[in-house]
Amino acid sequence: MGGRFLVTTAIPEPGLQLLSNAGQVTVLPERPDHRKLSSLCASGKFDVVLTQLSDVLDAPLLAGARVQGVSNFAVGYNNVDIEAATRHGIIVANTPGVLTDATADVAMLLILGTARRVTEADRFVREGRFHGWEPELLLGRDVSGSVLGLAGFGRIARATAKRALGFGMQVTFSPRPPGERLVSDEELGEFAGKVRQVPWSELVQRSDFLSLHVPLSEQTMHLVDAGVLRQMKQDAILINTARGPVVDEAALVHALREGVIAGAGLDVFENEPRLASGLAELTNTVLLPHLGSATVPVRAEMARLSALNAIAIAEGRMPPHPVNPEALS
Ligand code: GLV
Repeated sequence: MGGRFLVTTAIPEPGLQLLSNAGQVTVLPERPDHRKLSSLCASGKFDVVLTQLSDVLDAPLLAGARVQGVSNFAVGYNNVDIEAATRHGIIVANTPGVLTDATADVAMLLILGTARRVTEADRFVREGRFHGWEPELLLGRDVSGSVLGLAGFGRIARATAKRALGFGMQVTFSPRPPGERLVSDEELGEFAGKVRQVPWSELVQRSDFLSLHVPLSEQTMHLVDAGVLRQMKQDAILINTARGPVVDEAALVHALREGVIAGAGLDVFENEPRLASGLAELTNTVLLPHLGSATVPVRAEMARLSALNAIAIAEGRMPPHPVNPEALS
């Protein structure tokens, strides 16, 4: 009969097609709340649940779940309690690699967009206020020559570094903030001699653009808080394409309003889809609705990978991209 797949939100082709070829697919008509998801996972009717970032699979849900595994339609998996999943023998899989460039593009877009005041400028034109070229109209700042500080130095940070070097930025990084880990030249590979590792405190103090590329964990929750914002340069810009809760968003609104820092480019928010009070009114921000991986080919590839993960799990095999392979042992 094949696998029994619960898909919490319809995913693009070819994901659904692959799943249908491999078994029985149930796609929920609307995003389930926690109670609904818990009861579906506990029903014993599904082998694998294919989840989105908005589906929270916490310890109580996983304790009651009668599924073999979870295939998360994302590279990040902070919505799943991995320790609890492992304890209950539930394997979790994700979609790494395929969204690296797309997300780095959005980081670069936010760097350029905040530097050149793109949302203000766009609004200016649409509101009919553009009356011709002016020497001092909507002046921004140069990206080339400015210091980019990358918090984290994983796949997406490296892809952002590559782009930033192309734009003539001085690229610095701190690999695992707030802790330290020395990255050897060998590990730096193509970046050796082109980017500079600095301690987290220095990264915060020296960056013109501070861009976040860390997974959300207990260690990185509110990594950028009021104290860190105060350490940043007054004309610095914060870029976040990682996870919203890495930034204390209320503190960020305060800092942007009071001129503690100059601007922010955000693709993620602390309590998505809600924004911290006052954030939407600030003109010195570029705000996107979590679009890092949002291109047609990337989402199709994520769908394919998440389906392949789900099918492998249903067949009792190790999925191509396991997060907790130990759950199967
Ligand atoms: C998106 O945020 C992802 O983790 O894939």
